[in-house]
Amino acid sequence: MSNLVEIILQDNEFALIQKLIFNTVGITLDDSKKSLVKNRLLKRLNFYGLKKFSDYLRIVQYNRDEIAEMVNQITTNETYFFREQSHFDFLVKTIESLKSNSMIRVWSAAASLGAEAYSISMVLDSILGASKYQVLGTDINTQVLEIAKKGVYPLPWVDKIPLSYKQAYCLKGKNQYEKQFLITPELQKNVRFSQANLLEVQTGIGKFDIIFLRNVLIYFNDEIKALVIENILRNLHEGGYLIISLTENLRNINNPHLKQIDTSIYKKV
Ligand SMILES: C[S@@+](CC[C@H](N)C(=O)[O-])C[C@H]1O[C@@H](n2cnc3c(N)ncnc32)[C@H](O)[C@@H]1O
Repeated sequence: MSNLVEIILQDNEFALIQKLIFNTVGITLDDSKKSLVKNRLLKRLNFYGLKKFSDYLRIVQYNRDEIAEMVNQITTNETYFFREQSHFDFLVKTIESLKSNSMIRVWSAAASLGAEAYSISMVLDSILGASKYQVLGTDINTQVLEIAKKGVYPLPWVDKIPLSYKQAYCLKGKNQYEKQFLITPELQKNVRFSQANLLEVQTGIGKFDIIFLRNVLIYFNDEIKALVIENILRNLHEGGYLIISLTENLRNINNPHLKQIDTSIYKKV
């Protein structure tokens, strides 16, 4: 007789997960996500040797660390180098005009595995040199941040990086690392990663000239979007730029400090 018993995620258990995730990170998980959520969280049930979601949810409710693990499983972290090239063209143009600033600071505010933050730093480094810029990458997901900090990626990911940057800032692995590449330690020195929840006001990270907030707003409803934008703008210098994804919009967000200057690019006024 098989002792494989299917683990069921009941509707009331899924409703509790929806509520916990929304309250913690602002992500709306609609009902169509039920089986995806179930499959992703089964890893955590296996970790504890549990056979019921109700037992797992009891752990989650009493243990903040387990909520963080749950968030790590639920967030979608797709990313790649030089995603949406037009934003990097804008960066080149804008940096030329900001060149006289003593230090240029850029924030990748939903950094995922770090590909966005390192793409930004390649552009800045090649124009400004190492001493004139800083890049900060933040994300809610602690697992992706650990990978970002290492700066090691699967070799096929290098294909998205323009040749001159590839030659200057990427090192191909050898022997057991031959299927990977490393962002050069020199470039890594200018990029810092830390955990930050976009639902919270960020104190202690200072102000930025440009903020990339791409491919994360799609997970939020309008109310959360407005809150996130309000929070983010506190860390943007007046006259600085906010860049969202080409596939996102701020149509229903009436923030008086935002002036759209191009598709998906806003200036703080
Ligand atoms: C699809 S990735 C986008 C990565 C990158 N910006 C890009 O465009 O390639 C979305 C990221 O947003 C993060 N995220 C979701 N909710 C968040 C929140 N409340 N605070 C901070 N990061 C969040 C996820 O963990 C995930 O890594």
